[in-house]
Amino acid sequence: MQEIESTWYQDATIYSVDLKVFQDTDENGIGDFQGLIDRLDYFSKLGIDCIWLLPFYPSPGRDNGYDVMDYYGVDPQLGTLGDFVEFVRAADDRGIRVIIDFVVNHTSDQHPWFQAARSDPNSKYRDFYLWADEKPQIRPDRGPVFPGEEDHVWSYDNEADAYYYHRFYHFQPDLNIANQAVREEAKKILGFWLELGVAGFRIDAAGLLTQTKGLTEEPLNDPHSFLKELREFVSRRRSDAVLLAEADTPPAELGEYFGESDEMHLLLNFQLNAHILLALARGESAPLTSVLKELPDPSKNAGWANFLRNLDELNIGALTEAEQADVYEEFAPDETMRIYDRGIRRRLAPILDGNDKHIKLAYSLLFSLPGTPIIVYGDEIGMGEDLDQPGRFAVRTPMQWTDAPNAGFSTADPDDLIRPIISDETYAPTEVNVADRLADPNSLLNWISYLIRTYNEFPALARGDGTILNVDHPAVFAHASSLAGETMVTVHNLSDESATITLPLNSNPTPVFGDANFGPDGDSLHISLSSYGYCWFQL
Ligand code: GLC
Repeated sequence: MQEIESTWYQDATIYSVDLKVFQDTDENGIGDFQGLIDRLDYFSKLGIDCIWLLPFYPSPGRDNGYDVMDYYGVDPQLGTLGDFVEFVRAADDRGIRVIIDFVVNHTSDQHPWFQAARSDPNSKYRDFYLWADEKPQIRPDRGPVFPGEEDHVWSYDNEADAYYYHRFYHFQPDLNIANQAVREEAKKILGFWLELGVAGFRIDAAGLLTQTKGLTEEPLNDPHSFLKELREFVSRRRSDAVLLAEADTPPAELGEYFGESDEMHLLLNFQLNAHILLALARGESAPLTSVLKELPDPSKNAGWANFLRNLDELNIGALTEAEQADVYEEFAPDETMRIYDRGIRRRLAPILDGNDKHIKLAYSLLFSLPGTPIIVYGDEIGMGEDLDQPGRFAVRTPMQWTDAPNAGFSTADPDDLIRPIISDETYAPTEVNVADRLADPNSLLNWISYLIRTYNEFPALARGDGTILNVDHPAVFAHASSLAGETMVTVHNLSDESATITLPLNSNPTPVFGDANFGPDGDSLHISLSSYGYCWFQL
């Protein structure tokens, strides 16, 4: 296999969109592909290079579309396959690539494979899933992914008169990925969407695709063989396609997902996410320093996908109990803001008290760390959450475009909206919307767009060799990244008090982003940062 080296994804900024709540154009209260096409100018203005589209497949919609009923279609409420292709094509015209969610750990129980499997023990689809005559025990480390919403991973199916395996909801039976026929189907699906122009996939639940499922407790001969097979296939069909994996596993296991540049191109950095939160909560750099030292180095042309927030729970399960307690106390003081005993169901802006200075610090830090940054739709304008919505839906409310009724998201009757618009006095569309933020030169939105453009000028930040710098102040995080002779040094003050540090640098750096007072101090450089201050220097 001759693989052309192309690492666009290492320099990209990814924007994650749930199109169901983005822009409705046909008055059914649900966003659609035409809505995405209409908003392409917005993406260009923002400066992102890649859109990660959450699931849009036909689905009973019991897990926000992650319960797929047909891998080859578009949910008719969202548009047609034709609309999909128009969108991908129109995005491409503007230099924006589209990657889509690939959900192959499980199907919906309404998928024809499962229907056939449950009704006929002799069907070839029976072995697409995992069955047991007696209800097996749950392995302690393999319980339901959503505790409190499911209490077992084996459920009884009347029609099959047998138990089937599901790590997520009971309506999401796990596929038997040890079955080669399932693997072949998976690749066919990838091939289909590649032909329609997608630039890659977010591999849903990749962490479970390396586990033996079901009856046998023996490890698969090569637990990573399925992911490697997918990579081999995808790279053969489109050499620059990217696989972005959701593997929320301990640091020691993460390196294997990069393989020897023959597995995942990008890994969602859940570890960093939890530790950034801790660092912000404590106003200290130590959690960042320790997590960055613990994370494995990506293999060649692979990297981290870093984020402050995603559209699930903000998972802090990687932290110790004492650390979690600090994060909860600071950022989710109310029980209703927490979920699954490991996470937070709030948006970034309210987590940081709507304090723009604090939010900007967090984004500046995110973009300065090695890897590909991801922004979740709505966070760029500082949207809030709706805690009256069940579970993770708190952070999946409609995009707020204007202060008009329904926030400019839809012209449907408000009662027909897929989810209500945020209505609290601080985060309602009258206070937070795209139109106002675009018009305000000092807004978070315009600042983020400036951040992205500045970031693009200094590729050392994304994929340079990084070094954490020793700093004589517990609140300040400083690091250097070098690429092709260019070195960037970035400093971030995580506390709400000003801080002064000295760095062993004797050159006279050029500040290119943020704000600091600095000057030589003998052989060193002293830098003063205001509360939540940050600065990027080019050496
Ligand atoms: C991933 C998705 C989540 C979904 C789950 C099951 O974790 O991010 O939203 O519920 O997979 O597909």
